[in-house]
Amino acid sequence: MAFISKSSCLLIFFFLVAAALPHLSSAYLKLPLLRKNPYPPAPSEALSADSRRVSALHRRRRHFHTKFPVTSAASSGSGQYLVSLHLGTPPQRLLLVADTGSDLTWVTCSACRRHCSSRGTFFPRHSTSFSPYHCFDSSCNLVPHPREHVQCNHTHLHSTCRYEYAYSDGSVTRGFFSHETTTFNSSSGDLVLFQHLSFGCGYNNSGPSVSGPSFNGANGVMGMGRGPISFFSQLGQEFGHKFSYCLMDYTISPPPTSYLLIGGAERYKLSYTPLLINPLSPTFYYIGIQTVFINNVKLRISSSVWGIDELGNGGTVVDSGTTLTFLTEPAYRIILAAFDRLVKLPKSVEQTLGFDLCFNVSNELRPSLPRLSFKLFGGSLFAPPPRNYFIDAADGVKCLALQSVAPSSGFSVIGNLMQQGYTFEFDKDRMRLGYSRRGCAVP
Ligand SMILES: *[C@@H]1O[C@H](CO)[C@@H](O)[C@H](O)[C@H]1NC(C)=O
Ligand SMILES: *[C@@H]1O[C@H](CO)[C@@H](O)[C@H](O)[C@H]1NC(C)=O
Ligand SMILES: *[C@@H]1O[C@H](CO)[C@@H](O)[C@H](O)[C@H]1NC(C)=O
Ligand SMILES: *[C@@H]1O[C@H](CO)[C@@H](O)[C@H](O)[C@H]1NC(C)=O
Repeated sequence: MAFISKSSCLLIFFFLVAAALPHLSSAYLKLPLLRKNPYPPAPSEALSADSRRVSALHRRRRHFHTKFPVTSAASSGSGQYLVSLHLGTPPQRLLLVADTGSDLTWVTCSACRRHCSSRGTFFPRHSTSFSPYHCFDSSCNLVPHPREHVQCNHTHLHSTCRYEYAYSDGSVTRGFFSHETTTFNSSSGDLVLFQHLSFGCGYNNSGPSVSGPSFNGANGVMGMGRGPISFFSQLGQEFGHKFSYCLMDYTISPPPTSYLLIGGAERYKLSYTPLLINPLSPTFYYIGIQTVFINNVKLRISSSVWGIDELGNGGTVVDSGTTLTFLTEPAYRIILAAFDRLVKLPKSVEQTLGFDLCFNVSNELRPSLPRLSFKLFGGSLFAPPPRNYFIDAADGVKCLALQSVAPSSGFSVIGNLMQQGYTFEFDKDRMRLGYSRRGCAVP
């Protein structure tokens, strides 16, 4: 509740430059999603992603009782989806990772004033509308602060609000919590100004998620989590508290253009599953897995392995910023064994790619692979095609793109590879996640 009352302090102004929106409830923002990084992830990256993830989960526990368990898997692999954002006056274009697993929106900032090279950095000194929050501002309470944060001096004019935001793999962004004007192309082609976007101006960003090769091409993160500072929560007030996206299917050539839609109504029938709340992790979108099937045969996995325990561990989150899918250990082993039993292809001689199960498909034109499906809370069936969980890890080698997590310290993640080719709609007011194989073409 404290979050909500604080978030109302973020005064949000919104208006159209060119035309008035007829009905805000039916209005939406349409932002094209791009995919910069090569697909599939290089085996070495997938491997390091796995080890990063493991250490990340340990780290997460330590943070558990802090006010903001600001953990995200902003990058557990190389495949990221990017959104373009125009920040400042005049607008500066930046590419941000669309991340449903974190809240803070931040950009790489530079204090450069003159003769600045303009690639991938926001220059606050080139913007007339940039303003850092004062540390005494109530908005400053919405972000985690660095440990060495000095006591806020009410009277000191230049005590800016410093933030430090950590991701689950240990990556950190540090800088000034600020606000700015941001500009979008609206669904009707008009320019939309959003005058008061709160974001992190990141001067000191380190770690693989925010500076390594998997961040390649990105200039920051657009936090789409459910917490009060997320981009979605800030704009949601104007757009009916829901957003949707379809992540492009890269096996289709040429890949269809897809969009991140904030607001807007679905145009086709969706299957729904409830969004669950974990009070200890207010950022994440949790869903519930009831049963797992392979080739329509129900696996013997106790439903209790998917639950969230009293310490807030476990559960399953939907994260657009994580590439691979992570499943809790007892379930993972059973699924792995079932695939091992059902796939009749020769094993790849190289099993060292960071995956537990790889097949040699060099002699197969169209290898037949078993179908994995999840029955979710509410009864709907999520049955993605095999290309969402088998990846071409090398020439003629297909690997099961699942990883395991320890149930006591981690949580399961439905990553973006598993989501591709589907439209997902996150509806905060109705507390549900909708999904459909349709809607991935132009909305
Ligand atoms: C706050 O800042 C003012 C002006 O710079 C200074 O005089 C005062 O000593 C500072 N107070 C504290 C508690 O640091
Ligand atoms: C809006 O769209 C036009 C044409 O599609 C493009 O040139 C322009 O950069 C876009 N502006 C913003 C702020 O996205
Ligand atoms: C960036 O943060 C690190 C701590 O991880 C610190 O050692 C370093 O001095 C900081 N750099 C700047 C320029 O503030
Ligand atoms: C796949 O099988 C072929 C023979 O059919 C073999 O030459 C090749 O080395 C195998 N590749 C791997 C990665 O196992």
